[in-house]
Amino acid sequence: MTSFPRGQAYWNATAEVPDFPRLSGDVSVDVAVVGGGIVGVTAARLMKDRGLTVAVVEAQRVGRQVTGRSTAKVSSQHGLIYQKLEQKFGEDRARLYGEAQEAALRMIRQLAAQHGIECDLEEQAAYTYTREEKHVSEIEEEVQVAQRLGLPASLVRTTDLPFDVLAANRFDGQAQFHPTKYVAGLAKTVPGDGSHVFEHSRAVDWEPTRVVTDHGVVTARHVVMATHIPLGQIGGYYAQAHPMAEPVIAARVQQAPEGMYLSVDKPSHSYRLHRNSDGATYAIVAGNSFKPGHTDEERQAVEDVERWLTENFEAGPIEYRWVNEDYSSMDGAPFIGWSSSIGEGYLVATGFNAWGITNGTAAGVILADLLEGRENPWTDLFDATRVKPVAGGPKFVKENLKVAAHLVTGYLARRPKSYDELAPGDAAIMEIDGEKVAAFKDEQGAVHAVSAVCPHMGCIVGWNETDRTWDCPCHGSRFECSGEVTHGPAVQPLGSHITG
Ligand SMILES: Cc1cc2nc3c(=O)[nH]c(=O)nc-3n(C[C@H](O)[C@H](O)[C@H](O)COP(=O)(O)OP(=O)(O)OC[C@H]3O[C@@H](n4cnc5c(N)ncnc54)[C@H](O)[C@@H]3O)c2cc1C
Ligand code: FES
Repeated sequence: MTSFPRGQAYWNATAEVPDFPRLSGDVSVDVAVVGGGIVGVTAARLMKDRGLTVAVVEAQRVGRQVTGRSTAKVSSQHGLIYQKLEQKFGEDRARLYGEAQEAALRMIRQLAAQHGIECDLEEQAAYTYTREEKHVSEIEEEVQVAQRLGLPASLVRTTDLPFDVLAANRFDGQAQFHPTKYVAGLAKTVPGDGSHVFEHSRAVDWEPTRVVTDHGVVTARHVVMATHIPLGQIGGYYAQAHPMAEPVIAARVQQAPEGMYLSVDKPSHSYRLHRNSDGATYAIVAGNSFKPGHTDEERQAVEDVERWLTENFEAGPIEYRWVNEDYSSMDGAPFIGWSSSIGEGYLVATGFNAWGITNGTAAGVILADLLEGRENPWTDLFDATRVKPVAGGPKFVKENLKVAAHLVTGYLARRPKSYDELAPGDAAIMEIDGEKVAAFKDEQGAVHAVSAVCPHMGCIVGWNETDRTWDCPCHGSRFECSGEVTHGPAVQPLGSHITG
């Protein structure tokens, strides 16, 4: 029987990418970049182009975290965002958002061409569609707004999908790529002439001019926190942007529609294809977001995307299943820029609302411009100091109430009393000697037990069945079963628990 890797993203399994060394000792540069995803590597490349020396310190491997777990559509079409932005920010700012995304799309094409990065970049049209009458007018409205903003939108009633749609917003001239190949390829161009990329080097402490990793120290004039969400308490972004998770699956298909698709109907479904070098075509399907660590919501979401794939495509077995997460900002626009309007701060970029390939590339441009003192038309829109929780409205109040609940009780209702009650492959939050314990029993019967209390701010983590990780519902930190942290804002592992 074929066995497929658990929790591994298709992109990470199919990219041969170079290794970068571990930081050892002390390094001094103009800019320390913490995090080697699309934000960190793009910022590093562009800052180097401006004559600055940079050091990227990546806790794991470059390009393989949220970026390498995305669906990697490179598009200025972000669902129905333009009508929402226009209502919230006005027409001029909505236009700026669209221009930033289109510029990022051009930037990705340019960087890939300039540096000869082979990342399966190909042009595709992007579609947001509906099959339900009640959403048709929203699609029509979005087309009109997008056209008014100068975006390449048109209203269509037919697509290449294997079912009928009632209406779709089509953006021409968009693209898709292989995200891990792109980021790793770009990272390869950074080292040299006083610049560096370090992997397996986790930032454990920081100041605006210094980053301490578990293997050495980077001293710099400025620090970019490109860790998806700034680490620890920096800027309080964990309270201004809430985490959402989504399953992604990949399977070979006989007939793959051209184009990149997203439904506005709920549960939402996202589709794109990828042609591999052996000539096989994969459908990459995502959708149906849920709160990280909510195991039963996750199970339903996974079942739903699998059903959608098999009902609509002649698909082979699902070879890859993984969960990815991103942060939704309070007002729909990311936070990009200085973390503080007074004194020394960090350069940050977060809250991409699941559209961080173009937003993250635009972030690279903005952060480089800020350091150079160059005018940039997008800085005000994305201003990272516009931190006003109340502006998030009732949705944000609700999200923060949920956080309070997770602090007290945690999510899992089921509380086995002993490890014997766990079947192999099962996991649960347990109460042992008054301590909340996150326990997982592997197929060999060995129990992996760690503290269930998230070291960031004390919420109780929940089980991610697909990836076999402990995920924090409050602010999105993620941990291996061993307790090792794989995603911030936490930087410390889950505490150890001795299994008796
Ligand atoms: C299901 C899903 C699908 C998506 N699909 C799309 C899409 O099609 N198009 C699109 O535009 N966007 C998409 N997105 C969003 C997009 O993937 C993200 O917004 C974007 O990749 C974030 O990039 P990043 O560089 O901020 O984060 P990352 O890629 O996660 O990079 C951050 C890096 O920081 C490192 N790091 C963390 N802590 C430390 C530390 N202490 N020390 C050193 N390094 C550290 C991490 O290891 C990581 O490599 C999707 C999101 C989801 C959830
Ligand atoms: S991520 Fe903040 S409490 Fe867990």
